[in-house]
Amino acid sequence: MGFLADALSRIKPSATIAVTTKARELRAAGKDVIGLGAGEPDFDTPENIKAAAIDAINRGETKYTAVDGMPELKAAICKKFKDENDLDYEPSEITVSTGGKQVLYNALIATLNEGDEVVIPTPYWVSYPDIVLLGGGTPVFVETSLADSFKVTPEALEAAITDKTKWLIFNSPSNPSGAAYTPAELKALTDVLMRHPNVWVMTDDIYEHLTYDGFEFATPVQVEPGLRDRTLTVNGVSKAYAMTGWRIGYAGGPAKLIKAMANIQSQSTSNPCSVSQWAAVEALSGPQDFIQERADAFKARRDLVVGLLNECEGLECPTPEGAFYVYPSCAGCMGKTTPSGTKLATDEDFITALLEDEGVAVVHGAAFGLSPFFRVSYATSTEALVEACARIKRFCASLT
Ligand SMILES: Cc1ncc(COP(=O)(O)O)c(C=O)c1O
Repeated sequence: MGFLADALSRIKPSATIAVTTKARELRAAGKDVIGLGAGEPDFDTPENIKAAAIDAINRGETKYTAVDGMPELKAAICKKFKDENDLDYEPSEITVSTGGKQVLYNALIATLNEGDEVVIPTPYWVSYPDIVLLGGGTPVFVETSLADSFKVTPEALEAAITDKTKWLIFNSPSNPSGAAYTPAELKALTDVLMRHPNVWVMTDDIYEHLTYDGFEFATPVQVEPGLRDRTLTVNGVSKAYAMTGWRIGYAGGPAKLIKAMANIQSQSTSNPCSVSQWAAVEALSGPQDFIQERADAFKARRDLVVGLLNECEGLECPTPEGAFYVYPSCAGCMGKTTPSGTKLATDEDFITALLEDEGVAVVHGAAFGLSPFFRVSYATSTEALVEACARIKRFCASLT
């Protein structure tokens, strides 16, 4: 199709959204489907945040704001970085966008040239490679393993870096594996990065507040201040504050990069929604106690799901430190056949048969660059999780 841009041929629509759509279609057709594909908390946005947004509307805060975030929100973000991460950023070093996704997009589009390499550990969040490809860059994947708890080793990182490497995209806690790096594990990686002064670090900390068992979260510049001048510290309100629909993400980084990102945003979407920005001010500055309460609920669900999945024949499910996903291996089911005669050769075959036979929607590991695994989101009710795991167990037991 000569009309469409060549860049489009390099990317594909998000596989996670595709699975959610298929589950919705099956449900609309009358099938009893349990969706474990979603990447968002099932909790509601807290009342004080909603009230702040309504208040903003009533005050008439409904006009354009500064392109990359209004001063009140930038001040709240500077304070968040200082209080929670011990990072000092000036407002000129802060950007606000329509979701963390747009922050990542702006940064990559503002910096990538043809042939630039971007190191991405697998399994990765689905959008990283596609945004890199859209920007004309080349993703370079670093494989992790279940044995290493899906964490990239310093040796593997070192081996992936070349003189063309522009960025490392780092995500802890991770979507899809839930793996989170301890400060010591992170320091081992930042030591490698200190030996490569031309490599920039894009750290996606969006699941910062979703860690369990007293895990101590750390971000790269915190453990290695020497990386400050070449790190973009990305975060957002979507996951911690159950605000996925409000579309507010932000980052701290060197002013020159932040300015370039504002340039891209000024010629595409302009400012993120003014009302959502006021809601985000309240999210970051208001009471924070519900975050721990919700994290406790997620931890209980994680333990439940890990326990139940490990009872399934052919599955192996490690216990991750954070986020609201688990990433079990289905290696023990590969090569087996379903009762209707389908041979399971890939994790995509596995999740397709599971959806058709038992009405459970999960996402195949190939979508995240590491097979044979699948991602289960446990951001749903305990009852749904118990029923879904019972169905997965029955499905695995039915394979011959
Ligand atoms: C790892 C990761 N980064 C970034 C995002 C983007 O979040 P948002 O654009 O809603 O802020 C998501 C959402 O699923 C995610 O899982």
